[in-house]
Amino acid sequence: MADLTKGNRRFVILISGRGSNMQTIVDTVQGEGLPAQVCAVISNSADAAGLHWARQRGIEAVAIPHRDYASREEFDLALAGAIDQYEPDYVLLAGFMRVLTPGFVQRYEGRLLNIHPSLLPSFPGLHTHQQALTLGIQWHGCTVHFVTAQLDHGPIVAQGIVPVLAGDDPDALASRLLAVEHKIYAQVVRWLSEGRVMLDHKQQVVQVEGAATRAFLPDGTLMGGVGKEQS
Ligand code: GRF
Repeated sequence: MADLTKGNRRFVILISGRGSNMQTIVDTVQGEGLPAQVCAVISNSADAAGLHWARQRGIEAVAIPHRDYASREEFDLALAGAIDQYEPDYVLLAGFMRVLTPGFVQRYEGRLLNIHPSLLPSFPGLHTHQQALTLGIQWHGCTVHFVTAQLDHGPIVAQGIVPVLAGDDPDALASRLLAVEHKIYAQVVRWLSEGRVMLDHKQQVVQVEGAATRAFLPDGTLMGGVGKEQS
């Protein structure tokens, strides 16, 4: 397995559609000169707009349509085969809308991260903004976490919050939250690139060296964050 403590981190990003989180990650890695590289963007849909964007940025962009495979297992094997060609240190799910098999998750244990549009463990699964509005919660949020076999669970790396405003519909809430998603995934990618993210496999908890908190405010800044933690 790759040595995650030093060197140039290699990322592969998985998307299903628009890919705005992926775009932010690419902009962060390329624009800030991080010790890292986005080696490829892979989608389960050939129509994903994000693939086109990635190609224009000179990044290898590959479609592996899940409909071409008879079972989840076969699709995940093809996906893993494509990913492994790039020898990534980390595989980042960014709006990747397929449930992955336990075998796939195990293959990338400790190297597979996801962003989910809720404050986990609340609202795993789909329609998180509608669920938030239905329950009348006043703070909604997003979570970057390591992926485990249980859907939308796993050790939490960072969370961000936004208020729920009077008159919000799911689209308005989603778009307010998306801006924070971009900030927190970018920051997690900085931390990963700098080799600061430590996952205790036994305890299933994360520590980030030098980060006093991993809680992000509605303006996308780290709570109490200082210096380079701010972006
Ligand atoms: C994001 O809200 C992400 O959290 C969710 O799907 C959306 C994908 O957006 N899983 P994008 O493709 O990154 O623009």
